[in-house]
Amino acid sequence: MRTDTEHTIYLKDYAPTPYRIVSVDLDFKIAPDTTRVRAQLTIEPREGTEPGAPLALDGEELKLEEIAIDGAPLVLSAYAADATGLTVIAPPARRFVLETLVSITPETNTKLMGLYRSSDVWCTQCEPEGFRRITYYLDRPDVLATFKVRMTADETLAPVLLANGNLVARGSLDNGQHFAVWEDPFPKPAYLFALVAGDLGSITDTYTTGSGRKVDLAIYCAHGKEEQCAWAMDSLKRSMAWDEKRFGREYDLDVFNIVAVSDFNFGAMENKGLNIFNDRLVFAKPETATDADYENIERVIAHEYFHNWTGNRITCRDWFQLCLKEGLTVYRDQEFTSDERSRSVKRISDVLTLRSAQFPEDAGPLAHPPRPDQYREINNFYTPTVYEKGAEVVRMLATLLGEAGFRKGMDLYFERHDGEATTIEAFLKVFEDANEVDLGQFKTWYLEAGTPKVTVSDTYDAESQTYRLSINQETAPTPGQPEKADRVIPVAFGLIGPNGSPMGWKGVSGGEVREDMIVLRDKSAEMTFTGVASKPVPSLLRGFSAPVNLATNLTQNDRLFLAQHDSDPFNRWQALQDVGLALIVDAVAGNEADEAAILALSAAMSDTLANNSLDDAFKALALNLPDEQLVGRTIGKDVDPAAIHTARKALLKAVFGPLVDRMYTAYATLASEAPYAPTTEQTGRRALRNRLMALMVTASPNGPALAADQYRHATNMTDRFAALVAAGVAWTADAAALLADFRLRFAGDPLVFDKWLAVNARAEDEGVLSRIEIILDDPAFPKNNPNRLRSLVGSFAMGNPVQFTRADGAGFRFVTQFVADVDTRNPQVAARVLTGFRIWPMLEATRREAAREALVTLKENENLSRNTSDILARMLG
Ligand code: ARG
Ligand code: ZN
Repeated sequence: MRTDTEHTIYLKDYAPTPYRIVSVDLDFKIAPDTTRVRAQLTIEPREGTEPGAPLALDGEELKLEEIAIDGAPLVLSAYAADATGLTVIAPPARRFVLETLVSITPETNTKLMGLYRSSDVWCTQCEPEGFRRITYYLDRPDVLATFKVRMTADETLAPVLLANGNLVARGSLDNGQHFAVWEDPFPKPAYLFALVAGDLGSITDTYTTGSGRKVDLAIYCAHGKEEQCAWAMDSLKRSMAWDEKRFGREYDLDVFNIVAVSDFNFGAMENKGLNIFNDRLVFAKPETATDADYENIERVIAHEYFHNWTGNRITCRDWFQLCLKEGLTVYRDQEFTSDERSRSVKRISDVLTLRSAQFPEDAGPLAHPPRPDQYREINNFYTPTVYEKGAEVVRMLATLLGEAGFRKGMDLYFERHDGEATTIEAFLKVFEDANEVDLGQFKTWYLEAGTPKVTVSDTYDAESQTYRLSINQETAPTPGQPEKADRVIPVAFGLIGPNGSPMGWKGVSGGEVREDMIVLRDKSAEMTFTGVASKPVPSLLRGFSAPVNLATNLTQNDRLFLAQHDSDPFNRWQALQDVGLALIVDAVAGNEADEAAILALSAAMSDTLANNSLDDAFKALALNLPDEQLVGRTIGKDVDPAAIHTARKALLKAVFGPLVDRMYTAYATLASEAPYAPTTEQTGRRALRNRLMALMVTASPNGPALAADQYRHATNMTDRFAALVAAGVAWTADAAALLADFRLRFAGDPLVFDKWLAVNARAEDEGVLSRIEIILDDPAFPKNNPNRLRSLVGSFAMGNPVQFTRADGAGFRFVTQFVADVDTRNPQVAARVLTGFRIWPMLEATRREAAREALVTLKENENLSRNTSDILARMLG
């Protein structure tokens, strides 16, 4: 394996380019096999650039056919081109036009970066460094230029020709060719460039902004899928309205286009005025999409749209600042969903995602700060830390500053930095200036990796009516960061009295305590509350006010008390989870079962189910035990995933077994004849009903038959798929037959095939691996499609902890062999799947050794991509 340390890029080395690109004229001659790109770049030296200093442009897999400056062809000695770029040795010391003609082959572009062909459609993905695979350029986010794009293609092969901005001309040419010219008036970095050419259907609509600009909206897709784009369009219009209302941000062009393509490396891309989407995040109809799919589409449509301001109008100075746009935009899409649906349910779901995707990253060999200071391969930093933890950091800012203070800062951000490529420092500065606060210590959240552990313990003295809370923070070392600074941690809290009502206090000393929040700034604080009439139970970290692991001296009874009385829905949910977590951890340690706590948890679950003041979606989240990975992380070392799995399943039976009759009654009552709609009300109802069904599969002998029955009679994909997952994951007696039916019933729908693949990959039984191998070895399996590959192998590595970490190492070896193979075609998919190994250092010795062996064998491969070798090198430390 190449180690490529020479390629490491450091934040401290940032310097602007010696040249600026002012405007770009591109002319694409699109045709099967070879596409020609003529680029005219208007370039000028920046102030202070040595006259004649070399101009180094990025370029990859380009064939240079012509090169000229101001119309005069360059002699061979005036430039040098190699596999990474083109250097003009002594360019003019004034504004000039560099013209290049290159040819590229989108058809063979299996990396899906740059211009490629997906199901006959030409499309692009440029973020972060794909534009250099289209033409020679200063391919970095701090080079902002206006773009004019002319495209020519066969009128039958590509009747639709799209690029960024507004359409300024189009027409027919000889030989069945036609052309279109698009112009984007907003200067932008190359990573936001996009074009699409192909034979596509579309749906259209319009939106009128608050100030009266009429915007033409369109969603383009494969013919025949048009009616499946309606939900995405609806989501887009709601997003546009929300950003005006909540952040005062209007759309700024006359058109907004979205294109759905079937081969795409990740979710979607916010190219200016021309978002390109993985089609799984556009298409929805009740028969083939689940409620979760509908919610995901709504969320990602909103996310990409919100980037128009947080990402496009204000972009990143360099890729170290990625969370400037991603963390902030995830925060914005979370707020959108919270406003459109249920805030508390959204918060719980987001915390579940954070804990299952980001916490393990932060606790393992791939840990990095939201703003890293070095990288070998930037594609490997589109991570849960940059996205989800980045959003948590923004959320803490809003928590600390209050809604009004946060909005003042955002307003100043848009006012001060519109049109710029900027940094995290500039982002923090607007909040400091708008609120007259110092965020120096807060910045640590961006600079340091690792999830802080916050430990709290309390004591009460009845005689003096004083209540003491002692709190401290500790962050374990992460790769490259042995020492950790103290962070500012907002701990939203309340005290609850013996009757279940909130309790006040007379005075408080020893820490920064606001009405409903403790702000911890030091390593530890001892707070004394006076005038506390009786011993309270503290509700801590309400709403999950900071991305930390909380440990307390609360008893199981305290937790059960909170589950019943806390006014904060998040903490009611959390309290129940904590009771279950302690019980599973205990069981894995081989301690005698705390029968009283099990009974009490069972009763609490029963109360939750019966409680009419809770909504269904909340109940669906509450009637569960913490997932196995969370248990593993809580245990922390020498983890045996099989033992955790067994203990968790036993507890599920013990807690929910006694409730089966009640659950069945509720299940029957929740059935509905209403025609399917992805509304919050219906979604919650189905979520609870399907949750009960899944619980019964584990806790009742009749559960498997119930699941099979639900599968057969389902009238929408949400219910059908929930039953398939429950049966498939548990690998019930019917599982194979249901899977076979599912495959036939939806033959020809690739997105439903992904669902089928994922269930196959997550089955808990020993046979799963050989079944996956058979699926993958089928010559008809689409070996280059990221969705298919991730659904099968990604689901196995990330979503089947027991079989992936099999003690005989077969799961590990299967994944590393897959990675080695896919890496030759699509390094991004390979590297992403490999991150499933991030839990390996925590495993017990046999599994740990097996994982290490598989990784070391992979490392012997000489030809790994930079993407995969970077992950591998960090994984092995
Ligand atoms: N900027 C896109 C978004 O909205 C994602 C781009 C992902 N790129 C990557 N190389 N993984 O989040
Ligand atoms: Zn994004």
